Amino acid sequence: MKQDMIAIIDLGSEENSAIARQIRAYGVYSEIYAHDITLNSLKNMPNVKGVILNGGVNNVVDGQKIDVLDELFEMGVPFMAIDHPTTKCPCGSVDDIKSFIFDKCKCEANWNMENFIQDQVELLRKQIGDKKVLLALSGGVDSSVVAALLIKAIGTNLVCVHVNHGLLRKGEPEQVVRVFREEMGATLIYADCVDRFLDKLAGVEDPERKRKIIGAEFIRVFEEEARKLDGIDFLAQGTIYPDIVESGTKTNKAVKSHHNVGGLPDDLQFELVEPLKYLFKDEVRACGKALGLPDDMVYRQPFPGPGLGVRCLGAITRDRLEAVRESDAILREEFAKNGLEGKVWQYFTCIPDTKSVGVKDNARSYEWPVIIRAVNTIDAMTATIEHLDWKLLDHITKRIITEVKGVNRVCYDLTPKPTGTIEWE
Ligand code: XMP
Repeated sequence: MKQDMIAIIDLGSEENSAIARQIRAYGVYSEIYAHDITLNSLKNMPNVKGVILNGGVNNVVDGQKIDVLDELFEMGVPFMAIDHPTTKCPCGSVDDIKSFIFDKCKCEANWNMENFIQDQVELLRKQIGDKKVLLALSGGVDSSVVAALLIKAIGTNLVCVHVNHGLLRKGEPEQVVRVFREEMGATLIYADCVDRFLDKLAGVEDPERKRKIIGAEFIRVFEEEARKLDGIDFLAQGTIYPDIVESGTKTNKAVKSHHNVGGLPDDLQFELVEPLKYLFKDEVRACGKALGLPDDMVYRQPFPGPGLGVRCLGAITRDRLEAVRESDAILREEFAKNGLEGKVWQYFTCIPDTKSVGVKDNARSYEWPVIIRAVNTIDAMTATIEHLDWKLLDHITKRIITEVKGVNRVCYDLTPKPTGTIEWE
């Protein structure tokens, strides 16, 4: 790392990530460290130009007052404390950060994606040498950016495995193969496991059992593919900075446990490669863009691991799954055409396993309803619905009932989270 860095020491504040983001937005790299980091560890970080002590209310965590080690102040760089007074260094507020990093610490604004990519390529080459790396490439933003970065660093020594479990959206497996194998020249194993997954899921109604089957089967396929390969020493993962921060630091309670790719077991015996683990989501997207990935991959809306499996409600049937896939494709096409792509946080269709009576071609029909869901949220913990234009809803409805086989009715879900979750299962 050749860029200047500001170290944020976490004294129980919930604003650490926001401050790190703000500093990076000024073009200066920043990382968050636990309050008991030693002077030696801090000195071993490259190019630390300043330290911000970021406290919560009175630096108290779980009733206990916490502080940094006194030796830290021998670091020989400027310190600033944010949020409550200390005698050990000057105090300031969030508004003082800019002048602290540029006037006091004399940082250069040299943190950008081109530099990040250059650094990572060097680091990855040093870590991996001429060994091979395995990556489960779902086509999601994080795994796609990891793949693009590793292709740049080690070329065909990256082995990507793309598992098509039959629950991906229309055109997704084709896009992964086209972009990575054909356009980027990746070594890509395409595992067509559609029948295998759908057979396993046949007749299973319970959402949790469906999720468990999909997750466990995914690991099995991935392990089988890994076993067929010789000489793999590393496993790449799309871990990003919020995964690490949200897993809980020494002062922050865990928001959610850090999930690795498909929950792979430790006994796979690979060394981990996690080149995005210090990037925030928007930085991951910027990195993907700088590496030449297409916009619809980089700016893709969130998509759950179990995919359309949790949108084909109840026991999955192939006809309903196809209807979910087709109606979702129409919805996405219309949102894109009407400037809603990138404006609405998440939108999709789902189909319950209940039919209703209708009229089609002057005859009675007994077919599935499609439910449209479009929500906005900041952190997916709560969500509000998008107030869609009626004309657009009319148009989408017309397209779905005429173009999607087996569907005679369309509903719009008005439920916020809570009480609903974003997904139906
Ligand atoms: P819920 O339905 O819990 O969803 O309100 C919140 C967000 O998480 C996504 N989601 C998942 N993402 N694996 C994932 O990677 C999953 O199993 C999963 N389930 C839900 C959901 O799409 C929404 O964005």
